[in-house]
This record gives sequence, C-alpha cells and structure tokens, in this order.
Amino acid sequence: MKTIRINKVLRLQGTISVPADKSITHRAIMLSSLADGRSIINNFLPSEDCFSTMNAFRNMGVEIEENGTTLIIKGVGIHGLKKPQQNIYAGNSGTTTRLISGILAGQNFSSTVTGDDSLSKRPMKRVIEPLKLMGTDITAKDGNFLPMTINAKGNLKAVEYKSPVASAQVKSCILLAGLYADGITKVTEPVKSRDHSERMLKAFGADISVDGLSVSIKHCDKLFAQNIDIPCDISSAAFFLVAGLIVPNSNIKILNVNINSTRDGIIEVLKNMGANITLDNVRTVSGEEVADIEVSYSNLQAVDIGAEIMPRLIDEIPIIALAATQADGTTKISGAKELRVKESDRLSAIATQLIKMGADIVETEDGLIIKGISKLNGCKVDSFKDHRIAMMLSIAGLIAEGETEIADSDCVNISFANFYEVLKKLNS
Ligand code: S3P
Repeated sequence: MKTIRINKVLRLQGTISVPADKSITHRAIMLSSLADGRSIINNFLPSEDCFSTMNAFRNMGVEIEENGTTLIIKGVGIHGLKKPQQNIYAGNSGTTTRLISGILAGQNFSSTVTGDDSLSKRPMKRVIEPLKLMGTDITAKDGNFLPMTINAKGNLKAVEYKSPVASAQVKSCILLAGLYADGITKVTEPVKSRDHSERMLKAFGADISVDGLSVSIKHCDKLFAQNIDIPCDISSAAFFLVAGLIVPNSNIKILNVNINSTRDGIIEVLKNMGANITLDNVRTVSGEEVADIEVSYSNLQAVDIGAEIMPRLIDEIPIIALAATQADGTTKISGAKELRVKESDRLSAIATQLIKMGADIVETEDGLIIKGISKLNGCKVDSFKDHRIAMMLSIAGLIAEGETEIADSDCVNISFANFYEVLKKLNS
C-alpha cells in the first residue's frame, strides 16, 4: 500500500476529464451480459470495482472483450448464465454484490459471493430480506455479511416491497430479481435514489414503469443488446469541483459530466454555498443528461444538508464536508447515517482526519456539524483504505500549510485510477 505526500498549491487551472461513471458502468456490464446479442460500451470505467463486476460475469460464461476504454460484451441471454466455476469475488464493491445478488437469485444454480475485509463488514440483510420474500434460499455470515450463498432454484415470485432505506443498490437488486419473478415486482423507497437501473433496463427492453417513489418491473425473457456511451462520474468530478472552489485563484472546467437529476445534489448544495459554478453544453447521451461544468475560486457560505437531498449526494459528503471547513458559518449535515456503512465509516473518517488537520467538526449520530472557516495544517492522515476519503484528504492537502501524508492512497484505484495525474495536470 502506498503513501502519498501532498503540498499546498498556489492555484489549479485547466480543462480536464474524469473517469466514467461507476454506477452506470456496473449496470452496463450486467445488462449487456444478460442481453441477446453484442453490446458495445464506450468509455467504461476501468477501475477495480468495475473489474469485480466484469470478472463475475466472465466467471459465469460471458465473453467480455476490452479494447482501450471500450467493452464488447457478447450477451448470453437472460437465462444463459452458467454456474460460476469459483466463488464470485466482489472485492471492495458493494454495487457488484448487491446488484448481482438479484441476478443470482433468478438462476437455477447456487453461488457464493465473497469480498475484501471492508465489504465483508457491510450489511447485506437489506438485500437478503427482500430476496427471501421473493422465495430465495440465502445464507450469510450472521445472516447479514459476506460470504453469502444464494441457493437459487429458478422459482422467484413477484413481491411488492417497501424498502426501509433509500438505496439504489437495494432497489436495483429487487428490480433485477424482478426480471426473473412471476408477475410484476414493485419496489417503493422512502426517498428517490439514483435511477440508472430504471433508465438502462428500459433501454434494454424491460417492461418497467416509475410512479413517484415506486418502480414496477414485469417478468422478462429477453433483453436486447445496446450501444452505450458512458458519461463521466459526477462523484469523481466532485473532488475537482470543490478543489476549484477552495484553492485560491483556481479555475477548472470538467467535461462531459453526468448530471442526472438523482445525482446532482452537489451542484445544488455548492450553488447554495455561493459557489461560482456554471453548467454548459447540457445534452443527453445514452439516456443520461450530461454537461461541462466550470468552477472558480469562491467565498463559500455555510448551508444545511438534510435527509431529503442525501441520496442525491451521498458519495459526495466527504468532499462537501471539506468545502464546509472553508465556508463561513456552521454547516449542518444530518440524515447521513448511511455513511457509516460505506467503504469505511465515513462520518467518523471525515471528522477524525479533518480534525487532525485543524478543522472544527462535531460528529453526530447521523451527520456532522462543521464550523468554518478553518485554517488546515498538513499532517499524517489515514484514508482507511476508502477511495473517497483518500481523494478528499488529498484535496485538503492542497490548501493545508506544510505537508499532508495520506496512508493507503492507492485505494483511489477503486474508482479513479489516474486521480493524482489529473491533479498534477491542473497544477502544472
Ligand atoms: C450506488 C448506490 C449508492 C452509492 C454507491 C453506488 C449504486 O449506494 O453510495 O456508491 O451504484 O447503486 P446505496 O445504494 O447503498 O446508497
């Protein structure tokens, strides 16, 4: 594991691209594998999490050819997956695990999903429960953790499920299982979560409809191969959006960013904080809205961020918290309990590491209270092997006095392998 040292910079300037959207890449690999025919996926995300999904489907007999950032996937059809030769190793990826469990529940073979230390501590009951209601026999460590064995018998029944959490992974798991279930499967969530699965399932030919917070899907025997262009990930762009706002004299333009209305909470929050942020060239690509986003250094103000907007910016809370340390006043983040069960306990990671650097933060049960403006100082900090914590601390290092040393910084490979190269480009 690597350690990176970051020093204060005078400005960041330039036009960049960030890697492709992780959520959309996972879904594109999954649905292309299940479709009839050859799908071409342009600008996929070549990151560790997405390789976990690719390997899982290769393990079940799907041919996936990689050509630069293009994937050519020969779909085996919705009933064409083969029993995996080995356990399915999902690495660090919650999305791989929770989404694939819905597909595995629809097969007529049993399979076991395993993961790394972090993933093995994350709750799976949230997908086990609905899949059991649909008739699947599942066993998991303590009923909640990987390894999880799905003894599928090809006899799923449709359910109407009210999810207690606003989680796109849970919703998508049920919708994917719903493809195999008898009848119409309906899932309702408390607050709308990202809707990439709904959009892509429709594009692949599934009979799916959305009514407010409910999504219904009909049993399906055939999906149709698609060509997909994946936009860049707003969750990766977020680090450079905030960097451009908090590093004095900066101006950064990020091209081709997905601004799907279930993912654009950070733009709303940054605007409310008084950020100089503009969206240009708004267009739709492969069913997803995309824009070029430009930011420049701004005097930020504190804001309140609550449960209602949380699913629209859930992965951006670490970098928003850093922005809040540089905003005038007290920022209150609440309704963010889900952050405790991400790749690390992110509320604790944000608070402990930024406090070490000089921030004024109080950790609450479901959020953070952040008083700005704080002067940050470089020191040794821990990423907890969480990619989004490592990237947030790296951006913090750009405005801190002295050197910031981040342990296990190579975990950025989970979603953004060339993060430090992009940073270097903006600083040259
Ligand atoms: C994701 C959904 C979110 C998000 C994760 C990706 C997805 O998780 O945090 O990074 O692709 O569906 P939850 O569904 O657990 O909120």
